[in-house]
Amino acid sequence: MKDEIILVTGISSGIGFYLANYLAEEGCIVYGILRNQDKFIQNLKEKNIKQKENLIAVTLDVRNYKEVERLIQEIYDKHNKIDVLINNAGYGLYGVFEELKEEDIRDQFETNFFAPLKWMQMVLPIMRNKRYGKILNITSILGRLTIPTGSAYCSSKHALVALSEVIRYEVHPFNIQVCSVEPGLIKTDFKNNMKFSVDLDNRFSPYFKLNQVIKEQLKKYPSFTTDASDAAKKIINLLKKEKLPAHYQIGIDAGFYYNLKTLLPENILDFLIKEYIKNIFE
Ligand SMILES: NC(=O)c1ccc[n+]([C@@H]2O[C@H](COP(=O)([O-])OP(=O)(O)OC[C@H]3O[C@@H](n4cnc5c(N)ncnc54)[C@H](OP(=O)(O)O)[C@@H]3O)[C@@H](O)[C@H]2O)c1
Repeated sequence: MKDEIILVTGISSGIGFYLANYLAEEGCIVYGILRNQDKFIQNLKEKNIKQKENLIAVTLDVRNYKEVERLIQEIYDKHNKIDVLINNAGYGLYGVFEELKEEDIRDQFETNFFAPLKWMQMVLPIMRNKRYGKILNITSILGRLTIPTGSAYCSSKHALVALSEVIRYEVHPFNIQVCSVEPGLIKTDFKNNMKFSVDLDNRFSPYFKLNQVIKEQLKKYPSFTTDASDAAKKIINLLKKEKLPAHYQIGIDAGFYYNLKTLLPENILDFLIKEYIKNIFE
């Protein structure tokens, strides 16, 4: 992997932070996209990591497509290739569907779905010309199954999983591989960065009890939660493989829920989730 040109989005915290730093330690030339330099520097200090020279932190919103195009052209002019793209930037919009605002759902899709889509459209011609490339889309196990209150997040990640699969087939003849990386719960800033459309404490909401459950869940990191640094190491090991799988799950919870979804008859899982929700309302 040494000297490979790697683009990673969303490196100010969490999985992307470790990915960018560890890939630079491996000798790759990493362009890490962030919106918040201060947060990144603070994280470097807290984790006692020294930023390597070959990690170039670029301040950019992934949805600023004009600037993204300019950056990709600049990188191509300088290195004449882009080996790897890791679409990692993302966040979760949560809340019961009826109480979500359409504009917030559109924003969710812009960041979690359309931004990776645009980034792929911009790097694919470069990879195709070189007959080499790897694209990792950090989706989620919630891109394979759904949970109540996750209408916006789950559907944005389901869309990205589907897109990754389709592109994977189309670009295979050009020696470009696309993989959907599907983490379970990872300890990052994700829960702090979550967005909600409604006041979860609104007692007049017909969904008040469910909203309170979301609020409680926000504080919790169960024992099975994967460490962000370990998740990044797993992703780097994946990248080192000659052949990337179509889907790659991270965390015992991701494996467990995926097996539950695929092995249990659909009507049983449907019954269990509905019972769980019904009990909350009782
Ligand atoms: N943590 C989990 O349990 C979990 C589980 C499954 C999947 N994932 C996925 O993993 C990916 C990484 O999340 P994380 O858990 O590491 O959470 P995180 O610590 O919140 O990191 C998300 C990163 O994305 C960046 N970002 C968000 N919107 C952006 C934008 N418009 N432009 C540029 N950067 C942007 C954030 O930057 P700012 O600081 O500027 O907001 C942050 O650096 C996400 O796609 C998430 O959906 C996470």
